[in-house]
Amino acid sequence: MSKKIIVGITGSIAAFKSVQLISDLIKKDYIVDVMMSESATRFITPVCIQSLTKRKVYVDTFDDENPAIITHIDIVKDADLFIIVPASAHTIAKVTYGMADNMLTSAFLAATCPKLIAPAMNVHMYENVATQENIKILKQRGILFVEPISGLLACGDIGKGKLADEDDILEMIQYALTPKSLHGKKVLISAGPTQESIDPVRFITNHSSGKMGYAIAKAAFCLGAEVTLVSGPTTLRKPYGLNVINVLTANDMYEAMISHSSSNDIIIMSAAVGDYSSTHIEDEKIKKNDDHLQLTLQKNKDILYELGQNKKENQIICGFAMETSDLIKHAKEKLLKKNCNMIVANHLKTEGAGFQGDTNVVSILTKDDIQEFGLLSKEELAYKIINLLINLEA
Ligand code: CTP
Repeated sequence: MSKKIIVGITGSIAAFKSVQLISDLIKKDYIVDVMMSESATRFITPVCIQSLTKRKVYVDTFDDENPAIITHIDIVKDADLFIIVPASAHTIAKVTYGMADNMLTSAFLAATCPKLIAPAMNVHMYENVATQENIKILKQRGILFVEPISGLLACGDIGKGKLADEDDILEMIQYALTPKSLHGKKVLISAGPTQESIDPVRFITNHSSGKMGYAIAKAAFCLGAEVTLVSGPTTLRKPYGLNVINVLTANDMYEAMISHSSSNDIIIMSAAVGDYSSTHIEDEKIKKNDDHLQLTLQKNKDILYELGQNKKENQIICGFAMETSDLIKHAKEKLLKKNCNMIVANHLKTEGAGFQGDTNVVSILTKDDIQEFGLLSKEELAYKIINLLINLEA
């Protein structure tokens, strides 16, 4: 069944950005009911929103169509989430002190579902002790926030106060709607390719996009874990709420993973770590003088193997295997040799599986079991992987 999100829009120039957000929420199959403060209607009109939601947009508390129903109480009863995007300093202050002077603030006070606020205002208004104290109080009450970002503000000032990027807001909506089965757990994940220079211009790498690892990291975050993502070079945006460590070489990744490993409950090596690097990086660009060029490569450290050898009590370790033949045989060997609890094996030659796409087809191996997963989006598969890991005995 579709989830219902109440979107409150308040008086900020960023109100226009809520239009795109609402449109995208509808495309994602959410039921969206919108409430606007009086000042929000100065920036965008209810008609604009109504054309997207195909539902009544609420502004006036006393605009009840049916006298038997008190709208601001009734509308939030079956809501799964209440978000205020953008939230002005004024509305943040009002909801902190339980003021219910318009439709939006009355409904917010009456709502018992999770709540998420995305502030947008002038930098000095945002940094003002009054606003910061209000935000602190609301956070202590369990209300979630998506931090504004720094940049050139509508007023001409430069600083923190711009509405968060829509992708960050969507990720926090997902977070707010997901049950916290990983609450209190720490998860360390590697993702993406590694890159080994051979001269100042060229490097050796592979086709990994990092999409699978990033999807797992985001799923673990939404399920309530504290997530550290060690990422090789990718074009993917930094997910909201994660501690991201960017690395380049296999050795950098080794250092980052090993130094964080002991404090984490679950470790997932989804990165496509380069097995070899050049013994020598030329200082100058290699010129194409000869018909043949010979490079001497040396083996990189096997990070997963090292993690497996130093596995802590109750720690769960998951590796990946990417093969072009004998997938299960090689994956089983890796499971044992690298002392993992689980291996996610994907067959490079299967349609819909592999590096760059948004889908994957995998077999998941544990010591006593093999489960096959047909074509799934990397997002769906990420949740399946995490749920299997949660239920494993260390
Ligand atoms: N891996 C690693 N360090 C390496 C190479 C691989 O930690 N230097 C990890 C990968 O992140 C993955 C698992 O080991 O989780 C298996 O990687 P894969 O490339 O399939 O296997 P290899 O161990 O490199 O063996 P081979 O290339 O011979 O198949």
